[in-house]
Amino acid sequence: ALQNSLSSRSVKSMGRTQYRLNPQASYKVAILGAAGGIGQPLALLVKMSPLVSSLNLYDIANVKGVAADLSHCNTPAQVSDFTGASELADCLKGVNVVVIPAGVPRKPGMTRDDLFNINASIVKTLVEAVADNCPEAFIHVISNPVNSTVPIAAEVLKQKGVYDPKKLFGVTTLDVVRANTFVAQKKNLRLIDVDVPVIGGHAGITILPLLSKTKPSVSFTDEEIHELTVRIQNAGTEVVEAKAGAGSATLSMAYAAARFVESSLRALDGDGDVYECAYVQSDVTDLPFFASRIKLGKKGVEALISSDLQGLTEYELKAVEALKGELKSSIEKGIGFAQKQP
Ligand code: NAI
Repeated sequence: ALQNSLSSRSVKSMGRTQYRLNPQASYKVAILGAAGGIGQPLALLVKMSPLVSSLNLYDIANVKGVAADLSHCNTPAQVSDFTGASELADCLKGVNVVVIPAGVPRKPGMTRDDLFNINASIVKTLVEAVADNCPEAFIHVISNPVNSTVPIAAEVLKQKGVYDPKKLFGVTTLDVVRANTFVAQKKNLRLIDVDVPVIGGHAGITILPLLSKTKPSVSFTDEEIHELTVRIQNAGTEVVEAKAGAGSATLSMAYAAARFVESSLRALDGDGDVYECAYVQSDVTDLPFFASRIKLGKKGVEALISSDLQGLTEYELKAVEALKGELKSSIEKGIGFAQKQP
C-alpha cells in the first residue's frame, strides 16, 4: 500500500503526459546518516520504490542492523551498508541520488541555526566525498540549518571544481507536505487535491506558504491566512516540543524526503511533468539561494517557476521582504564557514 501511495502521486502529477514507470529502471540511491531518526524510515520508503535497484546506507554507527533488517523486504532494491569514513567512498560510487540527513536534530528551545556548529562540518565532509566519488549525482540536503548547509555544499563543490547548481537541493518538501495537510484540514478539502507552493527558506519566517496560489483555488479570511502561515512556519517546533527532547520531525520528514527522491528519480527516468518546491541556487529574487517551485528534469533543475512570485497578496509581499534579511545572513554564514575552512 505504501508503495502504491508513493507511486500514485506520480500518477496524479502525470497530467496528460502518460509517463509510465520504466520496468528496467535501476537507479542507485545513497542515504548518509541512514541509521538516524529520519534515515531509517526514509531508507524503508526508498526500499519500496520500484525505481531503485541499489540502496546504499551510510552512517558512523549502527547501520549494519538497519541494512540487514531492510534487506529482508522482498522489493528489488539491493541494500548495502557502509560504516565510517573509510567506507564512504565505496558507498557513493555510481550513485544517482545522494540524500543527506546526517547530523544532530533540535531539542526544545533550540532554533535550526543552533545546530550550525555541528552540522556545518558534517555536511562539508560528506559533500567533499560526494564531489570526489559521484559528482554527477543529485544531492538532497536535509541536515539543518538548510538555509546555510546548502550554501556550504555549493562552496565545497565549487572548491572541488564540480559544482552544478542544477543538482544541489535543500529539501523543503516537508514544508509543502505540512501546508497541504493543514490547508486541507482547515478548508475541508480532499488532501490529494491540495497543493500549496512554499517559498523562501527552511527556518521560521523564511518559510513562506503562498496560500493565494493554493490549488484548487480557495479563499481564506485574513485571520485564516495568518493562522495557517504561522502554523506552517512553526510546525517543526510543534513536533520538537511534543517529542520533548527526543528529537525533531523524523517520520513526516522521511515521508517528505521519500517523495522528493521519487520525484527526482522520475525526472531522471524521463517523466517530463515533475514539479517540486526546493531550496536551490536561484535568480527569482536578489538572493543567491531561494526556495521556490522548480521543474525537475534529467539534468536536475530544468526551470525555476518564478511566476509563483507574481501577483502576490500584500501579506505575502510583506512576508517576502521580511524574510530576506534572515535568509541572506544564513546564506552568508554558510558561505563564510566554507570559505574559512582549509
Ligand atoms: P538523528 O540524530 O536521529 O540522526 C542523525 C544520524 O546522523 C545519526 O544516525 C548519526 O549517527 C548520523 N551522523 C552523525 N554524524 C555523521 C557523519 N559525520 N556521517 C554520517 N552520519 C552521521 O537526527 P534526525 O532526527 O534524523 O535529523 C537529522 C537532521 O535532519 C538534523 O539536522 C535535523 O535538524 C534535520 N531535519 C531536517 C528537516 C528538513 O525539513 N529539512 C526536518 C527535520 C529534521
